[in-house]
Amino acid sequence: DDTKAGVKGLVDAGVVKIPKIFIRPSHELAEELNDCQINIEVPVIDLAGIQYEDRRKEIVREICAASETWGFFQVVNHGIPLTVLDDAINGIRMFHEQDPESKKEFYTRDLTKKVRYSSNFDLYLSGTANWRDTLTISFMARGQLKPEELPAVCRDTTLRYIKHVREFGDTLFKLLSEALGLKPDHLHHLECAQACVFSNHYYPACPEPELTLGTSSHFDPVFLTALLQDQLGGLQVAHNNQWVNVRPIKGGLVINIGELLQILSNGKFRSVNHRVAANRVGPRISIACFFEGSHRIPEKVYGPIEELLSKENPPRYKEFQVSEFARNFYRKGLGEKSDIEVLKIQA
Ligand code: SIN
Ligand code: FE2
Repeated sequence: DDTKAGVKGLVDAGVVKIPKIFIRPSHELAEELNDCQINIEVPVIDLAGIQYEDRRKEIVREICAASETWGFFQVVNHGIPLTVLDDAINGIRMFHEQDPESKKEFYTRDLTKKVRYSSNFDLYLSGTANWRDTLTISFMARGQLKPEELPAVCRDTTLRYIKHVREFGDTLFKLLSEALGLKPDHLHHLECAQACVFSNHYYPACPEPELTLGTSSHFDPVFLTALLQDQLGGLQVAHNNQWVNVRPIKGGLVINIGELLQILSNGKFRSVNHRVAANRVGPRISIACFFEGSHRIPEKVYGPIEELLSKENPPRYKEFQVSEFARNFYRKGLGEKSDIEVLKIQA
């Protein structure tokens, strides 16, 4: 029953030493990368003026460069109203901070459930737990989840944000298609944004942040992720063997290329590992929207996009099924070797 109260339950109980299960091996914390460099920053792309052809071309170029070099960028002036973003974060705060009994109603480790609250979905798979709790909401296709299934405290704010971010996802996939030199609808036709999963994270203040992580280092096993974070910071991206802090920007969204889009782009776009530091100050709240692709047709096969291939650019990855890729990820948990390694074609 302890796990149902989550990491927040531990903090509320007043722990001053973090339980052993959260303590990361020191080699992992030091992880071949150096500490954060302060002078470099994930590209910030301003979408203002996107309706003008010249500006749009410029934006596509910026997105292309960021996706090739960083695998991460932030967008501002994306059109989602600031109140929608702030309300979404506050709704998630209220969910996690409501009385533990109401929260337990949603507690489950059954990954087939569309709404699930738990701490560390991979608790029994990973060696070390992360200092965070999560409310996950899955949409397998548009409109399949009934509003009543969502927790009442965050129902309206979450649904409003979801509607906006999915619409924005359509715009993003158009820009990314263009960045690959394809017709704007190419990725849309591949149903990259058909299914979407929302991970609503709550990172409580941690009494010993140097011993653990909020989220351990990983690659996103999806096409694309759009992340809304509050103003606390802690997200770090690997870049040139350094951890680079992703600076919170009021009204901004963090976008990152997932492993599946890396494969579709035949390696032109990069999926990059990232993590979240634990912090003495908290809570930090973030909402990740994962564009997972289509589970509608489980046997649908994906691979490097044919239009991008040539004699000079032969396929660098084998074909895969989204549902199987996802299944393997959940079987292994965060931080394990990804399936993308298995799909690589050796030159
Ligand atoms: C994640 O990448 O899984 C979480 C990112 C965040 O909370 O900022
Ligand atoms: Fe991630």
